[in-house]
Amino acid sequence: MVDVERLKKAADEFKMPNSELKNMAEAFRYDIVSGFEQPLASTLRLLPSYTNLPDGFEEGCYLALDFGGTNLRILKIKLMGAGEYEVLSRVEKPLKVEGEYDYIGEGSSGEALWDFVASLIDEANGGDRSVEIKLGHTFSFPTEQTDIYNAKLITWTKEFRTQGVEGEIINDQLKAALERRGMTNVVPVAVINDTVAVLLSAAYENQKTFIGSILATGHNTCYLEDFNGQKAPMIINLESGNFSKIVPNKYDSILDAASQRPSEQRMEKMVSGKYLGELFTIALADALKVEKLVEPFTSVDLSEFILAEKSGAEILKKHTGEDFDAEGVFYARDLAEIVVRRSARIIAASFVGTLSHIMGVGLVIPQQIAIEGTVYAKMPVVREALTEALYDILGGDAARLEIKFITDGGTIGAAIAAAMTD
Ligand code: GLC
Repeated sequence: MVDVERLKKAADEFKMPNSELKNMAEAFRYDIVSGFEQPLASTLRLLPSYTNLPDGFEEGCYLALDFGGTNLRILKIKLMGAGEYEVLSRVEKPLKVEGEYDYIGEGSSGEALWDFVASLIDEANGGDRSVEIKLGHTFSFPTEQTDIYNAKLITWTKEFRTQGVEGEIINDQLKAALERRGMTNVVPVAVINDTVAVLLSAAYENQKTFIGSILATGHNTCYLEDFNGQKAPMIINLESGNFSKIVPNKYDSILDAASQRPSEQRMEKMVSGKYLGELFTIALADALKVEKLVEPFTSVDLSEFILAEKSGAEILKKHTGEDFDAEGVFYARDLAEIVVRRSARIIAASFVGTLSHIMGVGLVIPQQIAIEGTVYAKMPVVREALTEALYDILGGDAARLEIKFITDGGTIGAAIAAAMTD
């Protein structure tokens, strides 16, 4: 029989009391400030996006490419201003299909990847080779930019491994692939991070938006920096998944050591969809005193397990090979929920750290925070836990914040970025 005391102990590892949340928010704020002044003291990257917020009047027809998660998405979009748009066509394909193709694994090449991307852009644009059309590119990885077009991939994250892309100007590689297909009428003009895309698309409709965030395969946040009026405002990509001033528990350390790049992306490894299932798997295996589970939990499995009303024991049996009684299921679910709750609490603390940098500690002006991503959309517990944690840190002031769930931000934002170059 399963030892519930060990399940409870594993769950305790994921507790994040209010005091720790507040400390984290302050450490996060500190890393934003020091990131500008002494970058080596900061674990945030503070990458300039060369983009301001849109004014909401952007109009015209654009291609929008959203690259960076499990799925590649291309939309042809007509922007009509005042937050209005129409999707003219949509093509969506995974970057990897087990047993068929894989553009992001160990043996994959940049050239093959961009040829695949170009073929889908071709499909979204109906094979047209004559009308010039601008393309906005949401590329959801850390890039070093010198302007809105030139973005060099610093490093892959989220366990992507395609060869020959790191260190390269990604739009040049895309452009070369478009040329190989004779698609010279498609003109890439802008590259933005997905967090920036979410912020642009939310601000296109509601000007009171200064923070954009993603909670999906990966996690990251951007915000509008006003440079105290010394320079033109610009959106800054924090690459907050790399924040590393949160004390890891023993399961975080095991996960990190086994990852593609140990000691990088420490916060992302505690919060995002790529890792939540694995974290639960490691903790559950420890509670059961086994080396490995029969079948590891993915984040989708984790979400199904939390939601399962009656089949909890069955799901656990399938993954662990062990029999759980009602009490065992209860505490295993408790463990699953707290893994997710901690994720949301960490993210809430990072939002408060960002807000206190923008507005000054303790000052919260009414606004919406835009967030997109499958984990935010579908994982149980996340939404309530995020709001609750904001109240835990800010008290009643949290009522001035609205967490706004965005859909299609990656693509709409890319179209807006392209339009903003006009
Ligand atoms: C990873 C990437 C970051 C992206 C995030 C969400 O953290 O490094 O650029 O925004 O995933 O997709």
